[in-house]
Amino acid sequence: MAIDLVLLGPPGAGKGTQAELLSEWLGVPAVSTGDLFRKAMAESTELGSQAKAYIERGDLVPDEVTVGMVRERLGKSDCEDGVILDGFPRTVPQADALEDLLADMDRQLDAALYIEVSREELLRRLGGRWTCRDCGEVYHEIYDPPEEEGVCDRCGGELYQRSDDTPEAQEQRIKVYTEETAPLYDYYAEKGQLVKIDGEQEIEAVQQDIREAVAPLKVD
Ligand code: AP5
Ligand code: MG
Ligand code: ZN
Repeated sequence: MAIDLVLLGPPGAGKGTQAELLSEWLGVPAVSTGDLFRKAMAESTELGSQAKAYIERGDLVPDEVTVGMVRERLGKSDCEDGVILDGFPRTVPQADALEDLLADMDRQLDAALYIEVSREELLRRLGGRWTCRDCGEVYHEIYDPPEEEGVCDRCGGELYQRSDDTPEAQEQRIKVYTEETAPLYDYYAEKGQLVKIDGEQEIEAVQQDIREAVAPLKVD
């Protein structure tokens, strides 16, 4: 039996940070649609050029493009035992599409974990974020600094600040989140799949709460 989870939460809530830690524990891959788009942009693929303008403005990439990319990723063999989705779905049509994609594999979503963080804290987190150009590992200059400034602890890659972390794009991402993604709370609550997690604690404490929520769903 597979375990399939969604991490929901506003920009900067810590979805990527928590998805990586949870992936180590569960042994299933963390799939971030934002990371997949950034990789495509770095490699200047067709997908990357389709996504670039939307991402840099802080808008959502159209559903058809995003769902097609996720369909392809979920079809890879490492997702056979499950997946942790970070940043997908972000709209009701995407959530419906996910349900269909999982159903095609005789699977069903186990839970949508909603990481709650206040607006002030989101802006603090986004403002100090540094990301590894090579492996995507995320740091924060104050809350979670690398051992050596500008260098990734995990792979030695160069750390950079994302092009959508300008104040304008941050504002737009939070606005789009509120309008288009927040309706997914009710969507998942009605299905009995929503689990709220207090995201305004230290990274390890948030992970602890997530693991407690996921433990009953875990298959050994
Ligand atoms: P995406 O990459 O998903 O960005 P996002 O949703 O805006 O979320 P972030 O990655 O900014 O934040 P996060 O929650 O992962 O936080 P993190 O762990 O980094 O999407 C980017 C763009 O791609 C979108 O705007 C859109 O254009 C497009 N896109 C992606 N998915 C799409 C979809 N499904 N449909 C359409 N378009 C899509 O943490 C943030 C910082 O805080 C870090 O510095 C971290 O070190 C720090 N931190 C984390 N946790 C804590 C803690 N507990 N305490 C203190 N600091 C912490
Ligand atoms: Mg992220
Ligand atoms: Zn790295």
